[in-house]
Amino acid sequence: MKQEKLDKTPARLDFTQSITGLILAIFIMGHILFEASILISKEMMYKVTIMFEGYYFFGETYPGIVSFLAGAIFVIFIVHAAIALRKFPDNYRQHKTMKKHALGMKHEDTSLWLIQLSTGFIMFFIGSVHLYMMMSEPSDIGPYASSHRVVHEMLAPLYILLLFSVITHAFIGLYRLALKWGFMEGKNTKVSRARYKVLMRIFIVVYILLGMASLAKYISIGLEHDFSDGVKYKSKTIKMENH
Ligand code: HEM
Repeated sequence: MKQEKLDKTPARLDFTQSITGLILAIFIMGHILFEASILISKEMMYKVTIMFEGYYFFGETYPGIVSFLAGAIFVIFIVHAAIALRKFPDNYRQHKTMKKHALGMKHEDTSLWLIQLSTGFIMFFIGSVHLYMMMSEPSDIGPYASSHRVVHEMLAPLYILLLFSVITHAFIGLYRLALKWGFMEGKNTKVSRARYKVLMRIFIVVYILLGMASLAKYISIGLEHDFSDGVKYKSKTIKMENH
C-alpha cells in the first residue's frame, strides 16, 4: 500500500526555531554578564574586550574575531526571526480562535505569545542596528569607546529599549521551551510549571537590573571622561596602542 508522504517542514521549522532561540538566549545571558565587567572596573572591561579579540590566545588583538562572532550571531538572529515570520499567520489564526472561545478568560500562553511578538518586532530593528555596528566597528569596543557610543552617539535610549525587549523575550522564550520539551518536568506538571514561572520572573528582574546598572556606569564614564585627546584606553598592566 502506498503511504502518503508526511510533510516534515513544520516540525523542522519548529525545531530550528527552538535551537536558534536557545543559542541566542545563552548568548545574551553571557553577553550581559561580560559587559557588566564595567561594574568591577574599566580595567576589567578592557581585559574582557581583548579576550574576545584573541589577545590571551595570540598575544595580539584581532578585532576581526568580534566581527566574525557578530556576523554569526546575526545569521542565527535572522534565521530565528524569519521562521517566526513564516509561522506568524498560523499562530495569529490560532490566537484569534482561542480568544473567540475563551472570551473574557485570561489565557496566559497567548499573552506571553503577544509579548514575544512585540518584543521580537522591536528587536528586528534595533537589534539589527546594534549587531551591524558591532560587526562594522569591532575595534570601537572598550571602557571609553563604549561609553562614548552610549552617551555621545546617543545609543543609551536604544540600549534601554533593547535591554527590556531582549531580556523579557529571552526568558519567556526559555520558559516556553522548557514547557514544550518537558525539561526537568517532575511528576506534577502544575508544580514544575509554577516553578519555571518563578524562575523566569527572577531571571528577568535580575538581568534587567544588572543591564541597567552597567548602562548607568557607561553613561557616567561617558559624561565624566574627557575624550578630546582621542586616546581610547591605556591599561595599567597591558601595553597596547589600541582601546
Ligand atoms: C557578537 C555580537 C554582539 C557584540 C560584540 C555586542 C557587544 C556589545 C557591547 C560592547 C555593548 C556595550 C555598549 C557598546 O559598546 O556600544 C553592548 C550592549 C548591549 N547589547 Fe550587545 N553585542 C552583540 C550582540 C547583541 C545582541 C544580539 C543583542 C540583543 C538582541 C544585544 C543587546 C545589547 C544590549 C541590550 C546592550 C545594552 C546592555 C546593558 O544594558 O547593559 N547585543 N553590546
